[in-house]
Amino acid sequence: MVFEIFLLIAVVFIALSIVYSTVRLGIPPMPSSTIAYQAMAKLIDETGTGTIIDLGSGWGNFVIPIAKRYPHRQIVGYELSLLPWMASTLIKHTLRLKNLTLYRQDFLNANLSTASVLVCYLSPDVMDKIKNKLLLEKPGVEFLISNNFSISSWKFDKIIQLNDFFRSPVFLYKLDL
Ligand SMILES: C[S@@+](CC[C@H](N)C(=O)[O-])C[C@H]1O[C@@H](n2cnc3c(N)ncnc32)[C@H](O)[C@@H]1O
Repeated sequence: MVFEIFLLIAVVFIALSIVYSTVRLGIPPMPSSTIAYQAMAKLIDETGTGTIIDLGSGWGNFVIPIAKRYPHRQIVGYELSLLPWMASTLIKHTLRLKNLTLYRQDFLNANLSTASVLVCYLSPDVMDKIKNKLLLEKPGVEFLISNNFSISSWKFDKIIQLNDFFRSPVFLYKLDL
């Protein structure tokens, strides 16, 4: 009985925590699908050897496999939602991914000048905020890869249309700011 009560409290806490961060940020910690990850990884292959930053790294569904795929590249994730950040940090330590750094921090306040590539799966509103941040701060980022959401009025350099129900796009932008 004590175990069941403990389990119930844990489930309620997890659910409330996820609902809270989803309402606060306007974006759920929904991971990229496997085919979206494969498309993003294919685009990453064309971006050299510099640091990759995932803006909103969620449960780690992008950063963990990409850190394994590129052991000699630095991979960074920013995530504000507590449980996804804790889970991905636990996996990072379990797998001893030394090239992966996960910050529990708002990427809109982060210094992105170490990045060569930005990756994201967010929302149209947040894409606008990223666009404004890049225009204002000019951090010298070379590439931006976005799952599903484009940047308004910017011309993408490549698009991969996924073989899913919605023919979802993954965009690659070469940045010259
Ligand atoms: C749709 S998920 C994508 C997760 C991961 N990038 C992937 O592709 O699997 C977006 C994540 O961004 C996080 N997020 C949204 N706004 C954020 C912000 N300003 N700073 C940090 N994380 C944020 C959300 O909590 C959510 O977990």
